[in-house]
Amino acid sequence: MSDPHPPVSSGSSRRVLIIASAIVAVVAIAAVVSFIALTPAPAPVATASPSPSATPTPTPTPTPTPTPTPTFDKAKFSNDDASSLWVVADKLRPLNPIDYEPTLVFVDVPYVYEPYLTPDAAAAVVEMFAAFNAETGLQMQSQSSYRSYWSQESVYAGWVSSLGQEAADLTSARPGHSEHQTGLSIDVSALPANCTLDQCFGDTPQGQWLAANGWKYGFTVRYPLGKTDITGYEYEPWHMRFVGKELAAELHSTGIQTLEEFFGLPAAPTYG
Ligand code: DAL
Ligand code: ZN
Repeated sequence: MSDPHPPVSSGSSRRVLIIASAIVAVVAIAAVVSFIALTPAPAPVATASPSPSATPTPTPTPTPTPTPTPTFDKAKFSNDDASSLWVVADKLRPLNPIDYEPTLVFVDVPYVYEPYLTPDAAAAVVEMFAAFNAETGLQMQSQSSYRSYWSQESVYAGWVSSLGQEAADLTSARPGHSEHQTGLSIDVSALPANCTLDQCFGDTPQGQWLAANGWKYGFTVRYPLGKTDITGYEYEPWHMRFVGKELAAELHSTGIQTLEEFFGLPAAPTYG
């Protein structure tokens, strides 16, 4: 006969065991949960923050050491000696010696009267004429260059007979006073001829180019417009005086137009 009442003890024990197991499980779960809760979060891995873009260090601009402008030596060559590159001849400054004759060479350019100048002036004329031709496709020629004391005497006398002495003195030097006698001056004309020995030469391509570029070859327009009270002569855009590249560049950069003003020499409007 089966026992209608199973032993209390075995049923109770099983329940106790189940309850105990449940409690253990709950405690274990709680422990795990609290462990997880209490476990410190891992330290954030340092993310490499973008390094600030490098601000370029400004390169210091080197301060240029001012190169001292060399003072132009106005006394480098004589203004008095007829053979000097910087001789100044005018109505108050006759050539010294008055019958001076330079060493001359033929100037190999187109011409009206056979041109002769000092060797340096001749070379500069050849260079200048070639540059004009290369730049413009046009031509110019030598109208008149070296004139001796005696040929200047004849030229001056011709002007006096055609214009009278007063007008002649504004356009032609008396013998012994002309730059043409030094072999450093040339009268330039257009080829084909246009405004020869006339002030309108200054408006021709040749005259314009000479005024703008002659200094590069060592020349200066010796009798500029508006300087008659200083030079003693009316405007002669055709008369180019060789002074060398150094002085010509200095005249150009300073804007000083006459040799009298540049060298501090007396104005020479008349023979005094
Ligand atoms: N025409 C210039 C001034 C001379 O005769 O020398
Ligand atoms: Zn001249």
